[in-house]
Amino acid sequence: MGKFLVEGRHPLSGRISINGAKNSALKLMVAALLGHGTFRLENVPRITDVETMAGVLRALGVEVHFTSDLLKLDVSSVRGQTPEALVKAMRASVQVMGPLLARLGRVEVARPGGCNIGSRPLDIHLAGFEQMGAKIEVKDDRFVARAPRLHGADITFRYPSVGATENIMMAATMAKGRTIIRNAAREPEIIDIQDFLNGMGAQVQGAGTPVITIDGVRELGATDFSVVPDRIEAGTYLLAFLITGGSGTVEHVVPDHLAPLLDLLEAMGAGVEIREGEVSVVSPPALKSFQVSTGPYPGFPTDMQPQVVALATQAEGRSELKEVVFDRRFGYTLELNKLGANIAPNNRAVFIQGKTDLSGASLTAGDLRGGAALVLGALAAEGQSIIGDIEHIDRGYEAMEERLQGVGAKIQRLAD
Ligand code: EPZ
Repeated sequence: MGKFLVEGRHPLSGRISINGAKNSALKLMVAALLGHGTFRLENVPRITDVETMAGVLRALGVEVHFTSDLLKLDVSSVRGQTPEALVKAMRASVQVMGPLLARLGRVEVARPGGCNIGSRPLDIHLAGFEQMGAKIEVKDDRFVARAPRLHGADITFRYPSVGATENIMMAATMAKGRTIIRNAAREPEIIDIQDFLNGMGAQVQGAGTPVITIDGVRELGATDFSVVPDRIEAGTYLLAFLITGGSGTVEHVVPDHLAPLLDLLEAMGAGVEIREGEVSVVSPPALKSFQVSTGPYPGFPTDMQPQVVALATQAEGRSELKEVVFDRRFGYTLELNKLGANIAPNNRAVFIQGKTDLSGASLTAGDLRGGAALVLGALAAEGQSIIGDIEHIDRGYEAMEERLQGVGAKIQRLAD
């Protein structure tokens, strides 16, 4: 597994260009399974999760060409069997259930893999499919779903699950009649998939609000599309500027999508400036501690939780963060404490005593965002750190070391 070598305590400054959102691009690739023809997806990040999803689509019979940030998909006929190894590699592959059930009337997927950040059940997805007339069987560690033709349903989610919202939206595009999803997820990536599906000829409305309505159509075509900027990648790099006492700008972003994070950074004393398509931050003389709880959008994003905990090690006083979305997303704190941080996770809450002077150590990434938090901690630490298993980071960040080198970080990727 690859490693990063980081020499910390160099204040970062400059501009970082942000990629398209991983958590939209992966779903748009899957939504294409509903259509026919050639899709041109722009602003697609070159990350390993996209390469993995490309493998899933190829195994299903889709032609995939990926040059620079342009992904070309040729969809004609698709097969209904997903490759086990790939599905176990990435949770997002469970998103193929909706499209394949709608298009083929049958789908078989392995229980999904993905980050080890807690239990990741699929009950909300499966309950929605059953309400639309699907029969679900659990065989070994695979799900087999069958539905000659899905019909519309009025579905209320017990929790606004992002993946379930996307899966049911996709299944409903070709179901008979109207489907309503109540208590739907409201993330910006949900609006992206609505616009993409409608570009294919679907009839979806309400994305971004708690109620999404889909009227089924007989067939869907193809569309060209540009992926929404990645609000989590942008937030991660803003924190890299602040944790090193520097200042800088992320460009090609939608500032609105960063609002929950920017509110917190301002409360911590950071200078925040918003301009068209970009956000700048300036470090204050001292960062203030904070209390925040994660939550479904427009709440504070769970995908920024590890990164902001790393920042809290450099804030004066005791910070507290509650993680209400996932049940085990604090694994990285043990690694940050090896740098000299004073972080105490306790069930769903984590307490951080700052400001602590960190010093370099040998660390191991355990998941995507936890790995990003370790890079942030290393950037603030005196001396050198080694971060192992950076494949976790490569799943969601394109060439992180190059982006950070561009703003003055002393970081390099060590050959395997
Ligand atoms: C998506 O995961 C993202 N992944 C996650 O980002 C993100 O953290 C999450 O949404 C929340 O915003 C992708 O889009 C590929 P959920 P997803 O369904 O769809 C529980 C990253 O770092 N739940 O909203 O899996 C679930 O266990 C990743 O980029 C059920 O109980 O998230 C979790 O506790 C990490 N039953 C909570 O809901 C279900 O049927 C949120 O899950 C579905 C979910």
